[in-house]
Amino acid sequence: MFHRPPTITPAAKYASVSRMEIERLLAARTAGMQASAIREILKVASSPGVVSLAGGLPAPESFPIDLIPELTTSVLARYGAKALQYDASEGFGPFREALVPYLAERGVSASADGLVVFSGSQGVLDGIGKILLSPGDAVAVEAPTYLGALQAFNPYEPRYVEIETDDDGAVPESLDAVLAAGGVKLVYLVPTFQNPTGRTLPLARRKAIAATLVRHGGLLVEDDPYSDLRYVGERVPPIHAFAPDNVVYVSTLSKTFAPGLRLGFVVAPEVIRRWLVIARQGVDLHTNTLAQALAAEYLEGGHLARQLPRILDVYRPRRQAMLDALDRYFPEDAHWTRPEGGMFIWIQGPRSIDAEDLYAACVERKVAFVPGAPFFASASQGRSTLRMNFTAADPTTIDRSVATIADVLREMLAKRRP
Ligand SMILES: Cc1ncc(COP(=O)(O)O)c(C=O)c1O
Repeated sequence: MFHRPPTITPAAKYASVSRMEIERLLAARTAGMQASAIREILKVASSPGVVSLAGGLPAPESFPIDLIPELTTSVLARYGAKALQYDASEGFGPFREALVPYLAERGVSASADGLVVFSGSQGVLDGIGKILLSPGDAVAVEAPTYLGALQAFNPYEPRYVEIETDDDGAVPESLDAVLAAGGVKLVYLVPTFQNPTGRTLPLARRKAIAATLVRHGGLLVEDDPYSDLRYVGERVPPIHAFAPDNVVYVSTLSKTFAPGLRLGFVVAPEVIRRWLVIARQGVDLHTNTLAQALAAEYLEGGHLARQLPRILDVYRPRRQAMLDALDRYFPEDAHWTRPEGGMFIWIQGPRSIDAEDLYAACVERKVAFVPGAPFFASASQGRSTLRMNFTAADPTTIDRSVATIADVLREMLAKRRP
């Protein structure tokens, strides 16, 4: 008997490729990628009614919303169709030019040709991984370190070597020992208001680290998204200022303009710049031209200089509110950082506490933070640590939320006591 093949509707066709078959198609390196633990937490944290101290979000009121129509009008008048056209992979000329004095004010000396614009500093970190890391190469990192850097590097299958840290950040002697042991491809540090700890390397350590890099011929990726967000104390120059040939300096306008515009940039030695450009041509060709043109206007027109004090005025009392609330409500056997800037405070909770259990119990009471363990490159560290963000909630909400977390913590401790 003759059977006609069944008619396959598009839906049935796709259904016939089972999930398991697709999983078998994934590349070996894909196994090294993990959904960001924080993104999963943020999903819960952004549920209705939950107050989130979890994310690293700038406050919406820090965005120069009223300015955007004016910037757009002047960009279209100045650049016309050019602002909507494909553009150079290195970045939009006027934006690169505007970044030169911006960087000089921050202690980074670079020409417009000496920097490349990327889609966020996250884009730079991926590019660095892509051009420098072969499977098994060693990357030296702080413990804890920025989770997004681990996520960017992991697909290139490196191994991680930890640099010891204390209350002042990375310990130069430990970096010296790590580099002396050999085999380290690159060092990754967030020296100013680090994510997640908020710690800042003092000047003397920056100089010592620069000297160590030069001595060993080491390469540092200095990730600096937060140094403009200083609420007290004096600015410290970047490590790049002391060893420009050994440092790839990475920064962003995400915290001082708008993260949704995805504007990051990198100052790097010529060979690295060249390969970053070649590598990114296969990814996205270049960063959004219109966003770069808006940023050029924002910098050139002196708008950042006017907006930054407003941003600091929003965040300064929030930082203080969190420090005050921690002093007021948290138990004595917890310790925390007192950052002079940035977005985060890092808490070492009582050692008997598992921060993930604490997190689950706090979410039931409608408050979220981030458990600290995912920020460590090696598993089984930081079980009783927490990261709290102070920029996204107002001072009253911060006070109430920290009080709730402290209540839950005490209840957990009380249950544990015999
Ligand atoms: C240390 C660090 N590096 C890089 C980034 C990525 O920033 P963006 O890609 O928005 O420039 C962040 C964002 O929070 C960060 O904290």
